[in-house]
Formats: sequence, structure tokens, C-alpha cells
Amino acid sequence: MDSNESTRIHLQRAIKKLQGAQNSTPQQDITAILSGLFRIPRYRAVTGDFTLVPEEWKHFHELIKKRTGHEPLQYILGKCNFWKSEFFVTPDVLIPRPETEHLVETALEHLPSDAERTVVDCCTGSGCVAVSLALERPMSQVIGCDISPAALRTAEKNRRYLLAANCHFLASDMLASFSSSSVNLITANPPYVAVKETPSLQPELSFEPREALFSEDDGLAHIRSLLEQAPAILKKNGCLAFEFGYNQGEAIPRLVESTASRTIRQFKIIKDLGGHERIGLIQYA
Ligand SMILES: C[S@@+](CC[C@H](N)C(=O)[O-])C[C@H]1O[C@@H](n2cnc3c(N)ncnc32)[C@H](O)[C@@H]1O
Repeated sequence: MDSNESTRIHLQRAIKKLQGAQNSTPQQDITAILSGLFRIPRYRAVTGDFTLVPEEWKHFHELIKKRTGHEPLQYILGKCNFWKSEFFVTPDVLIPRPETEHLVETALEHLPSDAERTVVDCCTGSGCVAVSLALERPMSQVIGCDISPAALRTAEKNRRYLLAANCHFLASDMLASFSSSSVNLITANPPYVAVKETPSLQPELSFEPREALFSEDDGLAHIRSLLEQAPAILKKNGCLAFEFGYNQGEAIPRLVESTASRTIRQFKIIKDLGGHERIGLIQYA
């Protein structure tokens, strides 16, 4: 058997395994694994014009097995694209989602590029929002906070790798570590999945940290804390931009109203590309 024939057999075996596990993108996943972890150029991975030594094929099939067990591709690769950068991800952090890019977009609209601003990214996880904002607004100082020390280690690794000198991370239970009237803008993608939704969640989510996903009170407890704590920490004309669940669009305006402890100049809700209400933006007086 020549080496191309052997490669073909290995790839077919992997595709069959993935298809058998209801994976709808077997070819893309295989290409991503080969190019990301075995340094095979993408076009060669697609055409099968490459060879691996037996130990490498063994490792390749172990990774395919992880994928058939629904481990997210981003954890297998250790990386994820978000906004304009590639971020390290580990099972200690949530895998950044495309809808969270709307949070970055919304925050940037309220952050001038020619002025010094102080930004807090609460529930920072991998630091994807904090680092993206810091890179887009070099004159601003961005502080990412999280309750998880392991998540903060990954965030710090991303900050260093992406050279975001104007970004820092600290441990904080929500906004408890910040002093009053000290911040211009707060962003947050807090945990917001209701525990009762667990049975209907995709199996991939069971690999992500529970504390990054679930919140008490029908998924609203962390958002309530944000709404209660943010007004005191924000300066005059400060803004809070936060993400919420695709099914929480009705509950959020009620929560904003019932927790308001300071005059709100503007409250708006922004939809994602799927048409779901996903981002709340509050401008305080
Ligand atoms: C949904 S993840 C968001 C991660 C990241 N911002 C993103 O968008 O990919 C929520 C994050 O909130 C953190 N978290 C949970 N409870 C918290 C609390 N009480 N205070 C601060 N962070 C908390 C989790 O550790 C997790 O990293």
C-alpha cells in the first residue's frame, strides 16, 4: 500500500466515526485538526496529499475519538477566533460565541478612540471581550474581572500573547472590587442559562464550566447583580452593556425597571443576526 492509499484509509475511518456520532461537519473538523495540530497545510489536509508517521496517526484518531464524544473542537484545538484575534481556550473558560461580538461592537460605539476611558469587563472568562476592546481602544484602560482563578490565568495568557498592554485582570465577585464612580463603561457576558434548561442543552455544553453557564432565578441572578451594582460604580453618563439569553428578551426590561437606582437616559436592546434580542445597553444620566 502506498502512503496516499494509507492516508485515504485513515481519513475515511475518521469521517465514518464522526458521521456515526451525528457530527454534521466531519470534513471541516478533520481539516481543522490536521492543520491546527499536525501543521498540515489546509489544502493538503483537504486533498489527502500528506502522510503522518504511525504515532501521529494514533494521536489523530485519539483526537477524533474526543470529537465523537462531543468535546468541542475549540477545546481540542486549544484556540478560538473572536473579533479580530485568535484566543487560547481551555475547559476552564467558556468558548467565546459569535453573538458576544455584538457586545464588543456595542461597547465600541460608546468608547471614543481619542479619549482616555476606564472600562470594566465583568465575567471576563478567556478575556476575549476585554482584550478585544483594549486592542481597539489603546487610549483606554480595560480591567477584566472574574471569580474563577483558572479563567483569569487563561485571560492573562491571552493578554500577553496579543500584546494588550492597556488591559489588566483581577479576581472579583461580580463588581464587588470596584470603587464608586470610577468607571466609564461596563461590559458583561454573565452566566445566564436557567438550570431547568439543562436537559435540552447540546452535549458539547457539558464540557464547559458550569459556573460560566448557569445562573439561579431562571438564569437572571447574575444579570440582576450587575443591574444592582453597576449604577454606583459608573461615572456620570456611564454605560452598561450586557449580553443575555435568546429567550430572556421579555424579562430583561422588567428587571431593568425593577432594579433602577439611578436615572436612566437611554435603554435599548440589540438583536443578533438571528433576530434574537441579545444585548442590553443602559446609559445612565
Ligand atoms: C458566560 S461566561 C463569559 C466569558 C467571556 N466573557 C465570554 O464572553 O466568552 C461567564 C463568566 O462569568 C464568570 N462568573 C461566574 N460567576 C461569577 C461571579 N459571581 N463573579 C464574577 N465572575 C463570575 C465565570 O467564571 C465565566 O468566566
